[in-house]
Amino acid sequence: MSNLILLFCFLSLFFISSTTSSINTTHKCSLQQTLDLLHFKHSINNTLFEYDSECKNWLGSRYNQIMLNWNTGTDCCEWNGVTCDDSTGDVIGLDMSCGMLQGTIHPNTTLFHLPRLQRLNLAYNNFTDSQFPPAIGRLSNSLTHLNISSCEFTGQVPTTISHLHKLVSLDLSSNGDDFNLEPHVFINLLQNLTVVKELSLTYVNISAVLPSNLSISSALKLLNLGWTGLQGNLPRNIFILQSLETLDLSYNSFTGHIPSEVSLLPNLVSLDLSGNGIDLAPHIFSSLLINSNFLRDLYLSDVNIGIVLPTYLNISSSIRSLHLRETRLQVKLPDNILDLKYLEYLDLSRNNNLSGPFPKVNTSTSIPLRMLDLSGCGLNGSLPKSLGNLRYLESLYLSDNKLSGTLPFSLFTLPSLKYLFLDKNQLTGQINVLDNSPHLQTFQRLTNLTSLDLSYNNFRGDWELDALLSSLTNLHYLTLSHSGISVTTSNANHYVYPGLHVLGLASCSLKLFPMSIRTMTNLLLLDLSNNDIQGHMPDWIGEIGGNQLFVLDLSNNSINGTIPNVFGNWSILWAFILNGNQLEGKVPTSLYKCKNLRIIDMGNNQLSDIFPSWLGDLPKLHTLVLRSNNFHGGIVTSSKVKFPFPSLRVLDLSHNGFVGQLPAKYFQKFSAMKNVVEKNTKPTYMSLGTLYYYSITIVMKGVDRYFSRLSVQYTIVDLSNNKFKGDIPNIIGNLNSLKVLNLSHNSLTGQIPHAFGNISEIESLDLSWNQLTGEIPQSLADLTFLEILNLSQNHLMGHIPQGKQFNTFDNYSFGGNSKLCGLPLTKKCGEHLHELQLEGDGDEEESGFTWKVVVMGYGCGTLLGMVLGYIMLSTGRPKWFSAIADVANHMILNMQNKRR
Ligand SMILES: *[C@@H]1O[C@H](CO)[C@@H](O)[C@H](O)[C@H]1NC(C)=O
Ligand SMILES: *[C@@H]1O[C@H](CO)[C@@H](O)[C@H](O)[C@H]1NC(C)=O
Ligand SMILES: *[C@@H]1O[C@H](CO)[C@@H](O)[C@H](O)[C@H]1NC(C)=O
Ligand SMILES: *[C@@H]1O[C@H](CO)[C@@H](O)[C@H](O)[C@H]1NC(C)=O
Ligand SMILES: *[C@@H]1O[C@H](CO)[C@@H](O)[C@H](O)[C@H]1NC(C)=O
Ligand SMILES: *[C@@H]1O[C@H](CO)[C@@H](O)[C@H](O)[C@H]1NC(C)=O
Ligand SMILES: *[C@@H]1O[C@H](CO)[C@@H](O)[C@H](O)[C@H]1NC(C)=O
Ligand SMILES: *[C@@H]1O[C@H](CO)[C@@H](O)[C@H](O)[C@H]1NC(C)=O
Repeated sequence: MSNLILLFCFLSLFFISSTTSSINTTHKCSLQQTLDLLHFKHSINNTLFEYDSECKNWLGSRYNQIMLNWNTGTDCCEWNGVTCDDSTGDVIGLDMSCGMLQGTIHPNTTLFHLPRLQRLNLAYNNFTDSQFPPAIGRLSNSLTHLNISSCEFTGQVPTTISHLHKLVSLDLSSNGDDFNLEPHVFINLLQNLTVVKELSLTYVNISAVLPSNLSISSALKLLNLGWTGLQGNLPRNIFILQSLETLDLSYNSFTGHIPSEVSLLPNLVSLDLSGNGIDLAPHIFSSLLINSNFLRDLYLSDVNIGIVLPTYLNISSSIRSLHLRETRLQVKLPDNILDLKYLEYLDLSRNNNLSGPFPKVNTSTSIPLRMLDLSGCGLNGSLPKSLGNLRYLESLYLSDNKLSGTLPFSLFTLPSLKYLFLDKNQLTGQINVLDNSPHLQTFQRLTNLTSLDLSYNNFRGDWELDALLSSLTNLHYLTLSHSGISVTTSNANHYVYPGLHVLGLASCSLKLFPMSIRTMTNLLLLDLSNNDIQGHMPDWIGEIGGNQLFVLDLSNNSINGTIPNVFGNWSILWAFILNGNQLEGKVPTSLYKCKNLRIIDMGNNQLSDIFPSWLGDLPKLHTLVLRSNNFHGGIVTSSKVKFPFPSLRVLDLSHNGFVGQLPAKYFQKFSAMKNVVEKNTKPTYMSLGTLYYYSITIVMKGVDRYFSRLSVQYTIVDLSNNKFKGDIPNIIGNLNSLKVLNLSHNSLTGQIPHAFGNISEIESLDLSWNQLTGEIPQSLADLTFLEILNLSQNHLMGHIPQGKQFNTFDNYSFGGNSKLCGLPLTKKCGEHLHELQLEGDGDEEESGFTWKVVVMGYGCGTLLGMVLGYIMLSTGRPKWFSAIADVANHMILNMQNKRR
C-alpha cells in the first residue's frame, strides 16, 4: 500500500510539472479538474482487453478505450465520457461504462475530488481486487447518479454510501462474489436516499432479514434486489410503492405469502419473484394477470401457486413474457395460452401435475412467440401440424413429457429455430439423414439450429454423422443418445463446425470412431458410450476437447489395444471413462498432467499394471475405478507425495490381483473421506450440469447395483476379490464419512477392529469370505445407518452383538462362521441366551420405536438417495438445484456470454 501511495505522489508531481505549462487557458475546464482527471487516467490501465459481450452488443464494437483522447491538448470538456456544466465548466458527468479500464482504484482516487460531479458511471470495467473507496462520501452534496455495475469490486460497500442523500439512481449490481453490503448500511441507505428512483443491488451480498416497517423512497420506479441473500417475509412496504415499474426480488430466501397489494401496482411493467420459497394465492395471481395493464414481464418460477388453470385464461394483453416454471399448476394448460397477442416468451416447464395435449395454435393470425418451454408438463399425444404456424419460434423445449407419434413435417419448416429439445419422450417414426440424399429433408433444413436433443425416444433411422454436421453448420450441441437412431460415419472429409460443445451419441450403434471429432476443438462432452466401436483408440484422442471442462465417456464398447499415452496437454480433462472395453496394457502416465481430472474409470478391461500410485498427485481426483482388470502387486504409496489422493471419495480396486497388506498409509491420508460435514439438503451429483451424469455400478449384498447418478457426497471403498492378506488396519476407523466398505473375498486375518464403530456414516459393510477371527465388536451395534452387513464365511466366534442396529440383520449376515452364536442364528449361546434376549427386548420397549423404522427413514433413504434423486429432480426439485442446473445449461448453451 505504501508503495502505491508513493507511486501516486510521484505521478502527481510528474503530471503537475509536465502539464501545467501546456494547459490551454481558454479551456472551459479548470486546471484542477483537468489534473484530477489526468491523475485518474495515469492511475489505471486503459488497455485493450476482451470485454463483456453486453458491451459488444451495446456499442456494436469490440473496443472502446475511453481515455484515449484524454490529454492536455484539448479541453477536458471535450474528452470521451466527460460532461461539463455549460456555464461554469465544472465536470458534472463521467460516463466511463464499457471503457476498458483495468486496475486498482486508489482509496484517494482523484475522481472523487471533482466538486460538482453529479453522474458517475463506471459500469463494465475491471477493478478486480479493488474495494469501493469510502471517499465516495465526499460527493454527498452533488452526486445524483452512481453506477458501478459489473466492475468486479470486492469487500464491503463503504458505510459512506448512505451519505449520498441526493442519489436518484444507484447501481451496485453484479460485482465480485464477495461484494457485501452490511444489513445496517442497507437499512440506512434506504432511509437516507429519500429521492431515489432506481436502486439496483442484484448479486450484492446483503443476507439480512428486512424489517416489516422498512422505510423506503416512495419515488422508487426500479428496485432490483435479486440474488442478495435476503430472508424472511416479503416486506409489505415494497408492494405499496405506487411508482414501481420494475421489481426484482428473485433468488433470495424469502418465505411466506406475496402480499395482495402486488396486483394493485398501477405502473408495474416487470415483476420477478422467482426462486423463493413463497406462496401466491390463486385469486391474487388471477387479478395480477387481469389488472396489470402495463405488465410485460412476469417471472414467478418456483413460486407456489398451485392453481387449476381455467380453460380460458383471462390475461392482460400487454404480457410479453410469462415464466411460471415449477409453480404447481394443475390439470391442463388453458386453450388460449398460445393465443396472446404480444407473447414472446412462455415458460411453463416442470409443472408435472399438468397433463393433456400440446396447446392449440391459432393458424389464422401470426404469433410472435420466440421461446416456448413446456418441458416436464405431462404433455401427451402427438405434436400438431399447426406448430408450423409459430414462425418466429427460436427455442422449443419439450423435454421430459409423454409425447408420442411422429414429428410433423411443419416442424422442419420453422425458419428461426435454434434450440430444439425433444428428449425424454416416446416419439416414434423413421427419420433418415443419408449421405448424398438428393433432397434436403427433415433436420437438415433447420440450418439455424444450434442445439438439438432427441435423446431417449423411440425413433428409427440411420443417420450419417458427417452429412448431418456438414449441413447443420451452427450446431453447438447434439445429443442422439438412446433416441433409437443409428449413427453411421463414412469418415469422409466433410466440413464440420468446430464450435460443437456437446456430442452425445450413446447407444447409437456406432461401429467406428468418427474422424470428425478430431476437428471439434471446443468439446465439453463427448459421450460415445454403449456403442459397438471396435478397434484401437485413435492416437489423436488427446487432441480433442477445448479449453472448458471436458468429459470423455467411451464406456461399454469393444475398443481394444492399449490406451495411447497422449494426454500431456489435456489439463482440461474432467472425466475419463473407459469402463467395459477390451483395453490392454498400462494406465497411460501422461494422465499425470491432467490436473483437473475428477473421474478416472477404467473398470472392466484387461489392463495389466501395478497400482498407479502417481495418480495420488491429482489434486481433484474424486473417483478412481480400476475394478475387474489384471492389476497386480502390492499397493505402495509413492514416496513423492505427502498427502496422496486428497479429494478421493470413490475407490474401486475390486476383482484384480492385488497382493500384500491393505494400504494402511492411504487410509491414513484420504482426507476427503474424513469428517466431511454434509448438509442433507443438497443432493449434488457428479455431473456436467443436467447434461451428463456419471453413473456407477456398486456391489451390494453380492449383487451389482447400477446407480444412474453418483452423489458427490458419497464415499465408497471396494477392495474386494483381491489377494490382500494380514490384519485390517485400525486406521480405517478414521474414515468416518465412509458409506460403503467392501473388503470381501480376500485373505484377511485377525480381528474386526473395534474402531469400525467410528465409521458412523457407514451404510454397507462387507467383510465376508476372509479368515477373520475373534468376536464381533459390540461397537458395530452403534452404527445407526448400517443397512447391509455381511460378515459371513469367516472364522468369527462368540456372541453376535444384540440390540440396536443388529436387530435388523438376518442369518445372511453371519452364516459360515461355525463358532458364532446367538440371534439371528439358530445356534444358541448356552447360558447367556436368556439374559441377552431380555436386554434386546428391553431396549426397544424403552425407546418406543423399532430400528426398522429408523432404517427405513434414514438408512434406505440415504442409500437409495442416489436413485430416488432422479425421481425427486423431476418432481419436487428444490429451487437451488433448478437455479444451478439452469445456470449450468445457460453456461453451456451461451458460451459467448461468459459473465452473468
Ligand atoms: C486552445 O483551445 C482552443 C479551443 O479548444 C483552440 O481554439 C486554441 O487553438 C487552443 N490554443 C492553443 C494555444 O492550443
Ligand atoms: C497495468 O498493467 C500492467 C500489466 O498488466 C501492470 O503491470 C500494471 O501494474 C498495471 N497498472 C495499474 C496502474 O494497474
Ligand atoms: C487521502 O488524501 C488526504 C488529503 O487529500 C490525506 O489526508 C489522506 O491521508 C489520504 N489518504 C490516503 C489513504 O492516501
Ligand atoms: C480482470 O482482471 C484480472 C487481472 O487484473 C483478471 O485476472 C480477470 O480475468 C479480469 N476479469 C475479466 C472479467 O476480464
Ligand atoms: C444521511 O445523509 C446525511 C447527509 O449526507 C448524512 O449527514 C448522514 O450521516 C446520513 N445518515 C446516514 C445514516 O448515513
Ligand atoms: C448502469 O450502467 C449500465 C451500462 O451503461 C446500464 O446498462 C445500466 O442500466 C445502468 N444502471 C442503471 C440503474 O441505470
Ligand atoms: C436463419 O435465421 C435468420 C435470422 O436469424 C434468417 O434471416 C434466416 O433466413 C434463417 N435461415 C433459414 C435457412 O431459415
Ligand atoms: C482389435 O479388434 C479388431 C477389430 O475387432 C481386430 O481386428 C484386432 O485383431 C483386435 N486387436 C487386438 C490386439 O485384439
